[in-house]
Amino acid sequence: MQTWEAIAARRNVREFSARPVLPAELDRILEAGRRAPSANNRQHRDFVLCTERDQLQALAQNWQWGRHVAGSAATVVVVVPVPATSRDAELDMFDAGQAVMAMMLAAADLGIGSGHASVGDQAQLRRLLGVPESHQGVCMVALGYPAGQPLAPLKKVDRRPFAEVVHRGKW
Ligand SMILES: Cc1cc2nc3c(=O)[nH]c(=O)nc-3n(C[C@H](O)[C@H](O)[C@H](O)COP(=O)(O)O)c2cc1C
Repeated sequence: MQTWEAIAARRNVREFSARPVLPAELDRILEAGRRAPSANNRQHRDFVLCTERDQLQALAQNWQWGRHVAGSAATVVVVVPVPATSRDAELDMFDAGQAVMAMMLAAADLGIGSGHASVGDQAQLRRLLGVPESHQGVCMVALGYPAGQPLAPLKKVDRRPFAEVVHRGKW
């Protein structure tokens, strides 16, 4: 896909086919996250790649709206340091979001669907993945080929109108 096609085709996918996602495809997606920009290039984010079914099913219990993780081919858990200040928290969340979007677009480029899930239970996440107390999960990115329609540029999107969102020159 071209960049614009990947942007237009990305949507939250929560049902995945049994088609495996290749290790090289996962590495491409993770590399997109690694390359994402961050404030002052601080790179306060780590990615835990989960591919084992037992682990994915346990992760799916972490958050009530994260059930789709169970059926994913792989899920990337985005981890940041426990923030020392509110400014750190803002920057690290912003930067984590940029990495997540980069990974989602890299996935869409390969025809691979992705679906966010927030992190609910930090203690469970730490137990399951060995995340140290100094760090916390931000979100999970479930990955897999879509069970239904393959990714294709969306003609209609559930978004506020362009003219309402875009302010030209002033509010
Ligand atoms: C910060 C953030 C957290 C989200 N958490 C969840 C979640 O826990 N479970 C879920 O199913 N979707 C989650 N989503 C996905 C949004 O609901 C989805 O992106 C939004 O409804 C727009 O749909 P689209 O991605 O298909 O365009 C999250 C999205 C963001 C940006």
